[in-house]
Amino acid sequence: MLINNETIIKDTDPLIREKSDPVSLPLSAEDEQLLREMFQYVQDSTDEEKAKKFNLRPAVGISAIQVGVRKQLTAVIVDDYDKNGNPVKYQYMLANPKIVSSSVQKAYLNAGEGCLSVVAPHEGHVIRSARVTVKGFDLIQNKNITIRARGYLAIVLQHELDHFKGTLFYDYIDPENPEKTVDGAMVI
Ligand code: CO
Repeated sequence: MLINNETIIKDTDPLIREKSDPVSLPLSAEDEQLLREMFQYVQDSTDEEKAKKFNLRPAVGISAIQVGVRKQLTAVIVDDYDKNGNPVKYQYMLANPKIVSSSVQKAYLNAGEGCLSVVAPHEGHVIRSARVTVKGFDLIQNKNITIRARGYLAIVLQHELDHFKGTLFYDYIDPENPEKTVDGAMVI
C-alpha cells in the first residue's frame, strides 16, 4: 500500500470516525505487511530527504484507519527520555493494543497535538492521562507485551488508540477555554 500525505485519510472523510476491529492472532500475512508499511511510514517521515521525496508528513504514530483499514493496528516511534534522563527510542508495531489502566494524574502537550489526518489547525490543550498501561501484541518483539508509558509516550499511545474509536485529538479541546489547565498535570 502506498502511504503518503496524499493517500492518508483526512477528517473530511467520514471513514476516519469509524471504529476499528481487533485482528486475529497470529497476524495474517496481509495484516503483518500493512503494519510493517505503517511503521516504515513513521520511520521515513522523520527523514528529511525521504519525507520530501515521498511526500511524507512527519509523524510519531499512525493507525490503520488512517490508511482506510478498520483494524486495530498502530505503529509508533517516539524519541523520549527515560526516568534517568537518558535518550530512548520507543518503537512499537502493535496489534489489538488496549489501555488496561490510566493514572488519575493528567498530562498535556503545551503546544497542542497534531495528526496526519487533520489539516486545519486546532489549537488547545488535549488533556490526557499522564501514565497508561497498554497491553497488546507487538510485531517488533513478536510477542504480547505490556507497556508502562508515561508522559509523551503515554500521550502518543492514547492519541493512536483513540483512532480505533474514531476519536480525534481536537474532540477533547474545550471550545470555551482551549488553553485550560488541570491542577497537578504534567505539562510537556
Ligand atoms: Co492521529
